[in-house]
Amino acid sequence: MPENPVLERVLFSEQQLAGRVAELGREISADYRGKLPLFVGILRGCILFYSDLMKNISVDCNMDFMCLSSYAGGTASTGQVRTMLDLRESIKGRHVVIVEDIVDTGLTLEYLMGNLKNRGAASIEICCLLDKPCNRKADVHPKYVGFTVENEFVIGYGLDYNELYRNLPYIGVFRK
Ligand code: PRP
Repeated sequence: MPENPVLERVLFSEQQLAGRVAELGREISADYRGKLPLFVGILRGCILFYSDLMKNISVDCNMDFMCLSSYAGGTASTGQVRTMLDLRESIKGRHVVIVEDIVDTGLTLEYLMGNLKNRGAASIEICCLLDKPCNRKADVHPKYVGFTVENEFVIGYGLDYNELYRNLPYIGVFRK
């Protein structure tokens, strides 16, 4: 395992992440055959997961992105979601799969689901790499979940602390 002084421990290794992401890709591909899904990545945390997931999608699809922010650099959600970048295309009648790195309080996705439903999508599902249900404050239910995690602050593979550590190829528990 890699040693890194900012980590208490590694939670998911590169190999574990790759294996689970491949499984998710296969499952989603089977569910969306012939539906031309639109994968909406929520920047910035999704970036590594999104990229790896898409390499495991075997059906025709489209990609688009939004940039939302609610943590403002700290370790707790502010509850106020800001849209920094919006979708480029209309999603009217589209089968949308939201791709997130983590669902924590669920406040970001509660806001986003409401926002996207108003735009007339045919269906909207959530795919998140990590789900932290113990911290939930909103009624959101991701259909595709990579791993369920406890109430720990995790970094790496897109997840940051003060905009650092997103580039780590594995996920670890931050040493506070
Ligand atoms: C993180 C993460 C999710 C959200 C989840 O984004 O990427 O979008 O928080 O938290 P919640 O369920 O408590 O709302 P963040 O606002 O930190 O922005 P980032 O993606 O740029 O890191």
